[in-house]
Amino acid sequence: MFLDPNYIRNRIRTVPDWPEPGVLFRDITPLLQDPRSFRVLIELFVYRYMNQRLDLVAGIDARGFIVGSVIAHELNLGFVPVRKKGKLPFDTIVEQYQLEYGSASVEMHADAVRPGQRVLLVDDLVATGGTMLAGMKLLQRLGANVVEAAAVIELPRLGGAQAIREQGLNLYTVCQFE
Ligand code: PRP
Ligand code: ADE
Repeated sequence: MFLDPNYIRNRIRTVPDWPEPGVLFRDITPLLQDPRSFRVLIELFVYRYMNQRLDLVAGIDARGFIVGSVIAHELNLGFVPVRKKGKLPFDTIVEQYQLEYGSASVEMHADAVRPGQRVLLVDDLVATGGTMLAGMKLLQRLGANVVEAAAVIELPRLGGAQAIREQGLNLYTVCQFE
């Protein structure tokens, strides 16, 4: 089995000036479209987490759902969504954050996690880190133990990975784009 991060990296498409001028958008759709690279990606995460004590996977809206829910299923764990504001029907808690392009809020159901549960937080990409940190704060407000944050892509120049680590959260990323 070739669990090679470069196999993943080579299937990520870069789209310049999207969604606005100056942004190099790292597009994971070719990676997901190819059954081999999708499987290698999931296996990389499963091998990392299969022997760790985890209770739940939390995935971030929307691309974090694609990766996070499959990881949860493969690890025989439940999945909880960290959603963009206004999408969840029950009692929620909310965190606001800044994006590379704009600002947003994320929400979780107030009963999504029980205090002390060990949670893996998953998204596709870490840029400024605002989204991942907002997800971490929501989980921590619910009393979760956020064991690690995991993403497919890290953009080191935007400082998010460093900001996440400075908040005391372990971060694992499959590949980096300078
Ligand atoms: C993207 C990406 C991450 C976030 C990373 O999501 O999927 O969630 O930005 O940026 P940050 O590290 O600067 O916070 P986006 O809000 O574009 O939503 P989408 O997944 O619905 O496309
Ligand atoms: N989310 C934030 N910045 C991004 C980028 N450069 N590419 C893809 N998704 C992103």
